[in-house]
Amino acid sequence: MDRRIFFKYGLAGIGTIALVKKVWALEYYTMPSEQKWAVLYGTWCGSSRDAAVWISEGMGGIAQVFDVRENPDLSGFEHIIIGGSIRSAVMRQELQDYITANRESLKEKIRAFFAVCGNMGNPVGPQQTTVFIDNHLAKRCGVGNLPSRVFLGRITKSLMDPQTAEMMKDFEDYDNLKRADCLAFGEHVLKSTAPVE
Ligand SMILES: Cc1cc2nc3c(=O)[nH]c(=O)nc-3n(C[C@H](O)[C@H](O)[C@H](O)COP(=O)(O)O)c2cc1C
Repeated sequence: MDRRIFFKYGLAGIGTIALVKKVWALEYYTMPSEQKWAVLYGTWCGSSRDAAVWISEGMGGIAQVFDVRENPDLSGFEHIIIGGSIRSAVMRQELQDYITANRESLKEKIRAFFAVCGNMGNPVGPQQTTVFIDNHLAKRCGVGNLPSRVFLGRITKSLMDPQTAEMMKDFEDYDNLKRADCLAFGEHVLKSTAPVE
């Protein structure tokens, strides 16, 4: 092939891949609002993504929702909720790294925390809030005393990488994530941060 033609179509191909990637990104269309809210989450198989979307829905759909793997620029947001799924008692490394890298700019804007865990199918209580939020997420953010909620999540082995799926082979898939709980938390966070008239 002619060198010029190779470069022409080669570059066009790269451009198309970039375009397709953008078009395929999951976009959450928010409801119009004067308030600028974002929910930032870290997930493996999607339960924290769904929790984040449902938290936003509980706020009337006004919060934009971001996967931390997109490395979002949150500078345009005034209020941020942060949460994520738990593996081996911690959240995704990307979420931890993002918080560390943006700690100062996030600090003043964080309004609430959430976590999604398995807890062996047992109901969650103050102990999970202490371990997953107070001593982990909130600590990394350097902010405490904010509305926090731990939700039970789910296991979907077909979405796991082969190594993790193999590790989980003796466990059945389950789904304990409750949309109503996430909606209620979103509503609670919005009310608890409403300016006093
Ligand atoms: C490899 C692995 C490790 C996990 N570790 C914990 C844990 O330490 N504590 C816990 O309560 N749940 C644990 N879970 C359960 C998950 O937190 C729960 O299933 C969550 O909903 C998964 O989120 P995801 O959909 O983002 O993957 C673990 C699950 C997996 C697959």
